[in-house]
Amino acid sequence: MGKILLAGGAGYIGGHTAVELLEAGYDVVIVDNYSNSSPEAVRRIEEITGKSVTTYELDIKDTDKLENVFKDNDISAVIHFAGLKAVGESVAKPVMYYRNNIDTTLSLLECMSKYGVHNIIFSSSATVYGEENPVPYTEEMKRGTCTNPYGWTKVMMEQILEDASKADAELSVVLLRYFNPIGAHPSGRMGEDPQGIPNNLMPYVSQVAVGRREKLTIFGKDYDTPDGTCRRDYIHVVDLAKGHVKAVDYVFGHKGVEVFNLGTGTPYSVTEIVDTFEKVNGVPVPHVYGERRPGDLPESYANADKALRVLGWKTEKTLADMCRDSWNWQKNNPNGYNK
Ligand code: NAD
Ligand code: WQD
Repeated sequence: MGKILLAGGAGYIGGHTAVELLEAGYDVVIVDNYSNSSPEAVRRIEEITGKSVTTYELDIKDTDKLENVFKDNDISAVIHFAGLKAVGESVAKPVMYYRNNIDTTLSLLECMSKYGVHNIIFSSSATVYGEENPVPYTEEMKRGTCTNPYGWTKVMMEQILEDASKADAELSVVLLRYFNPIGAHPSGRMGEDPQGIPNNLMPYVSQVAVGRREKLTIFGKDYDTPDGTCRRDYIHVVDLAKGHVKAVDYVFGHKGVEVFNLGTGTPYSVTEIVDTFEKVNGVPVPHVYGERRPGDLPESYANADKALRVLGWKTEKTLADMCRDSWNWQKNNPNGYNK
């Protein structure tokens, strides 16, 4: 078997997936422009696994440069993590988001076609269920209306991959719809390292706990949910990474498009996250309640039955594990990979 190309493999989810694939015996090649990551993340992958990883620093939109990766390596499948992912920034800079996220996808598909690579796994998102679908989300629901350009890039890229698969009977496409990945590698050596002020809940909570930020603002407490705060399907990033190993096994024996939710199926509220984090780690997370954040849905969680039935995958880690590992990463690396 050839190598698995991890596009955006130095990032948060790509890096954890690299570790799990290497530990399962796969050979990987990482391509990343470090626009939202750092070479130090690759060094940590090597440190954890004791294996060296072929890495290319390049912009995946640059098809000519990307082609060299396919020329120099025997690639058997691609996992496409590369993309910009900050929802608020996508509202302010939609063209940059459409350009980056869609062009990276097209560039990869062009190289795959030219070099006879037939297998691709794509990092999609629960956001494609949009505003209309009722929770829990199941894979056969129609994609909905997104509240921001980031979400629309995911909808469009799913469509592009479906169309590519219709035109090429050899192509095997797996769309993985992630819910809310949090947590970090249990070693404390790898984790999420957002640039600037975090947009997402768990990095914000961790940075408040470590003293980098004064307090958390909980966005809204008057939602129609059990405690009035939004509920999400938080999934440990290592469970998520293991889901990719199962998807790699699956993608080789399959043709056409298959969609899987990767979530736990159990929602937790913002308040439950803060309480669990404080309790498990014995640290205070000062917080206040503020206005609702525009675009937030009251609830988002998966029906995760299909991944269990077809891939034989389910999550193993608890919310306490997620909170413990996020904190372990944050307190040992208060400034992320910049030490
Ligand atoms: P991340 O930002 O940590 O990783 C993405 C990686 O892609 C980064 O290392 C970045 O430098 C790289 N990249 C971006 N544009 C590139 C380009 N043009 N050329 C080369 N490299 C490029 O994000 P993540 O959290 O690991 O997310 C991975 C994927 O999963 C993304 O596509 C994201 O949209 C998707 N996703 C993430 C979440 C989440 O909450 N983290 C949820 C659902 C889906
Ligand atoms: C979680 C909950 C907030 C920050 C986003 C994307 C989604 C997917 C995952 C990529 C919400 C609340 C947050 C804060 C808060 N990404 N919150 N105070 O919005 O569910 O999903 O990331 O595909 O597409 O939209 O995640 O971590 O931003 O928020 O109260 O400072 O925490 O309101 O209820 P979200 P999140």
